[in-house]
Amino acid sequence: MWDKKDLIEIGPLSRKEIEFVLHYARILEPFSGRGNKLSICKGEILITAFFEPSTRTEMSFATAMHTLGGDVQCFKPIGSSVEKGESKEDTVQTLEQYCDILAIRDPGVGSVKRYADLVNVPVINAGDGSNQHPTQAMLDLYTIKKEVGRLNNLTVVFIGDLKFGRTVHSLITALRKFGNNKFFGISPKDLGMPEELKGEDYQEGELDEIYKLNPDVVYATRIQKERMLPEERRKFSYQINKETLKLLPSKTRIMHPLPRVDELNPEIDDDSRVIPFKQARYGLQTRMAILAVLLGHEKEIMALKG
Ligand code: NCD
Repeated sequence: MWDKKDLIEIGPLSRKEIEFVLHYARILEPFSGRGNKLSICKGEILITAFFEPSTRTEMSFATAMHTLGGDVQCFKPIGSSVEKGESKEDTVQTLEQYCDILAIRDPGVGSVKRYADLVNVPVINAGDGSNQHPTQAMLDLYTIKKEVGRLNNLTVVFIGDLKFGRTVHSLITALRKFGNNKFFGISPKDLGMPEELKGEDYQEGELDEIYKLNPDVVYATRIQKERMLPEERRKFSYQINKETLKLLPSKTRIMHPLPRVDELNPEIDDDSRVIPFKQARYGLQTRMAILAVLLGHEKEIMALKG
């Protein structure tokens, strides 16, 4: 069913294709825990090439590939020939020689698509600047499906830097493929949702309005300071804390792609509605599914169902 070489953006995927990945992630979930090692990707090598910092994405890709029985190499630009002036295009074409699949993160909008077009192995976009982060969207959908129970008829509030936050861009695009979802954006004025991602289902508001919205999901993000000029950088002025949570219904789930800076006060971490670390954990089975699908192992996943 999966006929695309790469995973670059969420937009071109059909709802069916997304549902397949989520279904495979669900099948893989019992095999994603500690102590598990499958042989679905035995003999295959993933190279992660991150030209921007990462904790969750890089590490969960690596653990996902290990759990699938494959091998992993994490390429680091520091200490590589990039420091001698080698272009990223040449770097990526070199890495292709040593692996079966590449996961690439880069600050340039559209750059990962360009790299993908240069190589024959599948390429996963692990974040291209402020543009897209499709595997985060997949794991966010997986989280919502598991924790809220559905992907339609949702009220989702996005809070934070909606202009530069690529996870928000991918997630709203993904959720629009499912029926009747409503979106509210809360952000500093100059960091609002890009025009092309606003729609009839989208409204802007203020933080104190979230209580009236009866949201299913509040999705907070940090200010993406690395995408701003030094004089534009500022501290985030919103914070979700104990007081905020008192006013939100028990059904609301608070998500965050992490890293957080000031957006979620750690004092709320033990509230069962606050689920960023669960979300990070779900990245494992979701990325296992994505790697296995792009490497053509759908049959082997289905065989696990027994
Ligand atoms: C996000 C990213 O890199 O876009 N992190 C992640 O992958 N979980 C969010 C961020 O950096 O703010």
